[in-house]
Amino acid sequence: MKNVTITGWGRCIPQPVVTNDDLATVIDTSDEWITSRSGIKERHISHVSNSEMAALAGRRAVAAAGLQATDIDYIIVATCTPDRPIPATAAYVQAKIGAVRAAVADINAGCTGFLYGLSMAHGLIATSMANRVLLIGSEQISSYLNLEERSTAVLFGDGAGAAIVEASNDESGIKSMALGADGSGAQYLTTSGLGTEQIGTGAPRAIIMDGAEIFKGAVVRMGDGIVAAAKDAGWELDEIDLVIPHQANIRIIDAVRRRIKVDESKMFINIHKYGNTSAATIPIALAEAVDEGRVAPGSRLIFTAFGAGVTWGAVAFQWGDRTEPISTTDDELPEPTRTGLEILLARQEALNR
Ligand code: ACO
Repeated sequence: MKNVTITGWGRCIPQPVVTNDDLATVIDTSDEWITSRSGIKERHISHVSNSEMAALAGRRAVAAAGLQATDIDYIIVATCTPDRPIPATAAYVQAKIGAVRAAVADINAGCTGFLYGLSMAHGLIATSMANRVLLIGSEQISSYLNLEERSTAVLFGDGAGAAIVEASNDESGIKSMALGADGSGAQYLTTSGLGTEQIGTGAPRAIIMDGAEIFKGAVVRMGDGIVAAAKDAGWELDEIDLVIPHQANIRIIDAVRRRIKVDESKMFINIHKYGNTSAATIPIALAEAVDEGRVAPGSRLIFTAFGAGVTWGAVAFQWGDRTEPISTTDDELPEPTRTGLEILLARQEALNR
C-alpha cells in the first residue's frame, strides 16, 4: 500500500479576539473560573463565514505544498458548523480557491473530524482514487453558542486548519490509525434548536454538554489511543517526539499526559489562545507546531482526539523532510468592522428576539 503523508499545512485564525475578561462583562463568569476549569484565556470569533476561513487555510496549505488549486482532486471539510446544511462547505471552498477539478464533501465526526477525514484521504490515495486531497478542519462554532448557557459559552472558538494529503515517496506519513465511536453516547455532546429534528420547535439554540462524561471519555480514549497508535507503529512511548491532542480542555490534556506518563514538553498546547475549535484544533495545532519549529524532519507525531458522537481516534504520523513551506500566499481575511464581543452580542440579540 502507498505511504500517505502531509506535504502542505496552513491555518486561518480570524482577527477578532474575545478574552475571558470580555466574556465576564456579559456572562456571570470570571477569568479565574474559565482559566482554572479549561486553560482558556481567549478565543477568536469569526467575522467571516466558516467557508471563508476554510478557504484561506486551504490556500495556505496548497501554497505550502508548492501546488496550484487546480492540482487538488478532492476537498474534504471536517466541520459540524457548515455555512449551510446545503451545499457542503467544501463546495464553497472549491469555488473560493478555484479548485475546479476537485470533488467535494463535508464530514461531521465532531471534534474527531480531522482524523476521520485523514482516514478517508488515506483511503482515497492508497486506492489511487485521488492523488492530492485538501483536508480542512474548520469551525464557526461561536454561531451555536448561547451566552445564557455559561458552562459551554466560554469553552469554544472559531478557526480553520488545512493539510495537503498525498502519496509519499519516502518513509514519512501515516504509520498507524485507529478510529472508534459509540453512538449511544450521542446525548453527551449535542445541540439544541438546530437540525431537522429541532427546527420550528422553538427550542433555544445552544450546545448541550455533559461535561463530566465528556471529560472521562476524552481522557480514556485519547490516552489509550496514543498508546495503541504508538504500539501499532512500532514505537516506544519515549520515542514519540510530539503529541498533538485535540484542544478541548487543558485539564483533559494534563490527565491524558499523566495517564500515559508522557513528558509535558511533548504535548503541544495552544488552547489558551483559541479555546476549543472542534474539528479545527488538530490542523491548527499541526500548522502552528511546524511553523514554530516544534516539528523536525522525521519527527514522530501522534494526533489524538475525542468528540461528539461520541467519536475518537489516534494516528501515528512520521513527518517528512521538509518543515518549510515551498511557497506562501499574501491572501488575508478582510479587516473586521466589529469586535468579537459585538459579533457575539448581535447573535445573542437575534436569538432572544
Ligand atoms: N463561569 C462560572 N461558573 C460556572 C460557569 C462559568 N462559565 N459554568 C458553570 N459554572 C458553575 C456551575 O453553575 C456550577 O455552579 P454550582 O456549583 O453553583 O451549581 C459550578 O460552576 C461547577 O460546575 P461544574 O459543571 O461542576 O464545573 P466543572 O468544574 O465540572 O467544570 C467543565 C465544567 C469545564 C465543562 C468540565 O466539566 C469539563 O472540563 N468538562 C470537559 C468537557 C470539555 O471541556 N468539553 C469541551 C467540548 S467537548 C470536546 O471537545 C471533546
